[in-house]
Amino acid sequence: MATDHWRTGGGVGVDNAFAARHDAGFGAEIMGANKFGPPGWQDDPDWRGWWGEEPPFHTPTYVLTHRPRPPLEMAGGTTFHFLDASPTEALAVAREAAGDLDVRLGGGATVVRDFVAAGLVDHLHLVVVPIVLGRGTRLWDGLEALEDSFDVESVSSPSGVTHLTLTRRHAS
Ligand SMILES: NC(=O)c1ccc[n+]([C@@H]2O[C@H](COP(=O)([O-])OP(=O)(O)OC[C@H]3O[C@@H](n4cnc5c(N)ncnc54)[C@H](OP(=O)(O)O)[C@@H]3O)[C@@H](O)[C@H]2O)c1
Repeated sequence: MATDHWRTGGGVGVDNAFAARHDAGFGAEIMGANKFGPPGWQDDPDWRGWWGEEPPFHTPTYVLTHRPRPPLEMAGGTTFHFLDASPTEALAVAREAAGDLDVRLGGGATVVRDFVAAGLVDHLHLVVVPIVLGRGTRLWDGLEALEDSFDVESVSSPSGVTHLTLTRRHAS
């Protein structure tokens, strides 16, 4: 859906309110190898991500891959670091870089699932889009009874998407 946050002239309603939270208070991002590039990007020494020379992260950005390469410094404050590490180890590195700010886990589904399963996610924003792809990587596998430890809210937007937020319930 078009949002003003990502493209001037997009909507300024509920979808935009969620999209605008992408940037607020984050000091680092972690993403999986399949967000960083198409299948096989590891064989292309010139691949620099989907986002051009100024990616929209503006922080250290950690790409989890079993085939790491030297860091890539981009314009606008993004440096891609390539890490072969467990979720716990990767989060420790990203938290160190983020200082007092939060760490965003940018997807894809495999990385999100692994971090949720490891108990490392406090807040999850998921958008259900009315498109039937018919196949893909299953986000919820192995996460049965997630609702026992997260408060779940949903908001439907006039654009047709549904925003789900899961917020970890802290033991009192
Ligand atoms: N539109 C988007 O923004 C977006 C974002 C992400 C994904 N996608 C799509 O969503 C689909 C599913 O993606 P996905 O779940 O496979 O994506 P993903 O989570 O981004 O990538 C998973 C890959 O990351 C690497 N990885 C994950 N954990 C690791 C660890 N602990 N240590 C080292 N490497 C690790 C592995 O790649 P290697 O073993 O190859 O290094 C693994 O196959 C794909 O079709 C993808 O293109 C779309």
